[in-house]
Amino acid sequence: MLPAALTTLLVSLLSLLTDSPDVETVPASSLRALSFELRHLHAVSPSAHVVFADVPQRPGILSESSHTLRTRTISSWKPPSFALHAQARTQSMRFAQSLLQDFPWEEEAIAAPDVEDRLTLLELAKMSNNAYVDFNETGWYELSANWSVSYPFGWEPDADGFRGHVFATPDNSTVVLALKGTSAGVLGGGGPTAKKDKLNDNLLFSCCCARVDWTWTTVCGCYGGGWKCDIDCVERSLIDDSLFYPIGTNLYNNLTYMYPQSDIWIIGHSLGGALASLLGATFGSPVVAFEAPGEKMAAGRLHLPSPPSTHHITHVYHTADPIAMGTCNGVLSSCALGGFAMESKCHLGASIIYDTVSNLSWGVDVRTHGIVNVIEKVLNDSWLPAVEVGREVPEAHPEDDCVECYSWEFGNFAKGV
Ligand SMILES: *[C@@H]1O[C@H](CO)[C@@H](O)[C@H](O)[C@H]1NC(C)=O
Ligand SMILES: *[C@@H]1O[C@H](CO)[C@@H](O)[C@H](O)[C@H]1NC(C)=O
Ligand SMILES: *[C@@H]1O[C@H](CO)[C@@H](O)[C@H](O)[C@H]1NC(C)=O
Ligand SMILES: *[C@@H]1O[C@H](CO)[C@@H](O)[C@H](O)[C@H]1NC(C)=O
Ligand SMILES: *[C@@H]1O[C@H](CO)[C@@H](O)[C@H](O)[C@H]1NC(C)=O
Ligand SMILES: *[C@@H]1O[C@H](CO)[C@@H](O)[C@H](O)[C@H]1NC(C)=O
Repeated sequence: MLPAALTTLLVSLLSLLTDSPDVETVPASSLRALSFELRHLHAVSPSAHVVFADVPQRPGILSESSHTLRTRTISSWKPPSFALHAQARTQSMRFAQSLLQDFPWEEEAIAAPDVEDRLTLLELAKMSNNAYVDFNETGWYELSANWSVSYPFGWEPDADGFRGHVFATPDNSTVVLALKGTSAGVLGGGGPTAKKDKLNDNLLFSCCCARVDWTWTTVCGCYGGGWKCDIDCVERSLIDDSLFYPIGTNLYNNLTYMYPQSDIWIIGHSLGGALASLLGATFGSPVVAFEAPGEKMAAGRLHLPSPPSTHHITHVYHTADPIAMGTCNGVLSSCALGGFAMESKCHLGASIIYDTVSNLSWGVDVRTHGIVNVIEKVLNDSWLPAVEVGREVPEAHPEDDCVECYSWEFGNFAKGV
């Protein structure tokens, strides 16, 4: 008897040799499809603890809401332990960034969603969408496509923190954590005021404490006048004041406790997508993030050790969305009017960018940011410019030439002004 792995290898070699049309260009592993069912809801309690609720077994609903996705095998990098990762961050904050270079990442081959498959992206987008609603509400994608005009938008500073769903395959081999993002600063009785809560997100996605102009109250005192910003001060504020990342790592750790043997994938929209990416960069889990604001700058400011590669993180967004493009800023932008300074634009990993501005003649508009828009108008059909070059979806590229906050000078400047 041949060992199973060898048999698999031989089978895939043989199928290549026999020129079977199905498996000609893709390795056999990528043809594996996984079905997911909804298992739990997750949320954050007022005391900033992660809580889970099991979804009652309602066969009708579960079968309707099961999702089939294609997978492919990729390599990713995991920290030997979360404690070691946390320790490396602390040391990097105290001493030198360079300590992060030596972090002992462990490479591992994992089954990841096949992000070249349109229907897989579409299913993941629906699963991300459903993080906004209870499974029994209208709006749960499989149950009804009935959307209200006030449909959530991905950015709800006054809502109740991160929440979402946990899906799993029937054998628990793979688990999907779907995140809905809101301002994490809302959490905690006696916490910051509503206004500060909203502006807390500005710590993550603005260049310098949301200094837009003199009319703005900055969210941290790191502005040094002119275009100068004290970077140590920004990092300290981010680490001290923002629960965004720590709540995500708690959630992930809780999930690994519940599913110790499973591969975990993380998905999300908007802020949920940004958090998904930061968690993927931490734990090595495959990530698919929809319309996330640029989170690369936050990863640096949070001192996350950077893995040898982040190709397991995939962003999906379109060019008419000013939040994902990092253009929703400036005094008169709709983001600024809402109190946000969305200035970051660079994403980790590789990005699948749908150029809806050029190819569908869409105008840049913050209303195109919603996930429903992506489900119903972007992923709903073949993307013709991709089809022309023999693909289903645009090719994913790392954002190598992306420059963040180029007009700012970061250094050690006296605070004030
Ligand atoms: C949905 O379920 C929750 C409990 O899980 C319940 O409180 C709520 O009333 C239900 N909503 C509808 C529309 O059935
Ligand atoms: C959509 O929702 C409205 C109000 O909840 C309801 O009256 C209408 O029948 C629903 N439409 C469909 C197609 O489910
Ligand atoms: C999958 O995990 C759940 C815990 O959420 C457990 O109740 C169930 O028995 C597990 N199923 C299998 C096949 O291991
Ligand atoms: C999640 O993990 C935290 C910290 O490890 C722990 O305090 C909490 O009880 C866990 N929550 C659940 C629901 O497992
Ligand atoms: C997808 O959405 C676009 C834009 O709304 C529409 O023109 C197109 O017909 C839709 N395609 C399908 C297959 O529904
Ligand atoms: C969109 O892309 C398709 C395929 O490349 C092309 O035929 C079409 O003209 C493009 N539309 C616009 C408005 O550029």
